[in-house]
Amino acid sequence: MTVHFIGAGPGAPDLITVRGRDLIARCPVCLYAGSLVPKALLEHCPPGARVVDTAPLSLDEIVEECKRATADGHDVARLHSGDLSVWSAMGEQLRRLREAGIAYTVTPGVPSFAAAAAALGQELTLPEVAQSVVLTRTSGRASAMPPAEKLETFAATGATLAIHLSIHTIDKVVATLLPHYGADCPAAVVYRASWPEERVIRATLGTLADEVAKTPIERTALILVGKVLQAHDFRDSALYDASYQRRFRGRGT
Ligand SMILES: C[S@@+](CC[C@H](N)C(=O)[O-])C[C@H]1O[C@@H](n2cnc3c(N)ncnc32)[C@H](O)[C@@H]1O
Repeated sequence: MTVHFIGAGPGAPDLITVRGRDLIARCPVCLYAGSLVPKALLEHCPPGARVVDTAPLSLDEIVEECKRATADGHDVARLHSGDLSVWSAMGEQLRRLREAGIAYTVTPGVPSFAAAAAALGQELTLPEVAQSVVLTRTSGRASAMPPAEKLETFAATGATLAIHLSIHTIDKVVATLLPHYGADCPAAVVYRASWPEERVIRATLGTLADEVAKTPIERTALILVGKVLQAHDFRDSALYDASYQRRFRGRGT
């Protein structure tokens, strides 16, 4: 028996992979991670499935659910919001399952930074403007940042920043970034990307905190900062360049 970890996507119930949806449909037990997993996804569970919100459970209790289900001969669908590769708490669950000798699979999901970029209608990497996207966060009550992973260190690169779990501290984020990106640098906040209540705030780094303060946002929002957010005169990428096509296309590579 297997525990299937599934990225549930950023919020819209149709932003799950076909594989993820099909796994939910054939698992008689579904554990889902609280309010950020859209309830509509639970409608894919088979009739009579045991469906458990794990938000109030401890890690031990979650692992116990997995042990009980698999011992009873049931596969488990384990849903986390967005993708599982970032801030999903999957790592510690996998470690426990390995210790318990329980098999697992991992099915990726649409991460929130991609949904936020889609809401903005933006590519986050543009030729000669920015070629890196930094997925980061700031320290929280329960999770300090490793000393080398300072926001100002990432900011020094000028890369596009997608800052998670930090909307409550936006003033501090802006103050840290201003010396590196400047007040005119385009910035945005995307609240609940892909949910019906999605909200997009576009501003400059200098005005972002004031714009957000007009309609305060407490959580489930991404702060995006970088020149790509307002770049119009970037050069075309080589991908569709005619000479590039002649040289590198049509060789079956
Ligand atoms: C615990 S992390 C989960 C990240 C998730 N695993 C992912 O792939 O994006 C939660 C943070 O992700 C961001 N987030 C998650 N869903 C979001 C959404 N639909 N819109 C904007 N930000 C979102 C927010 O910064 C939120 O504080």
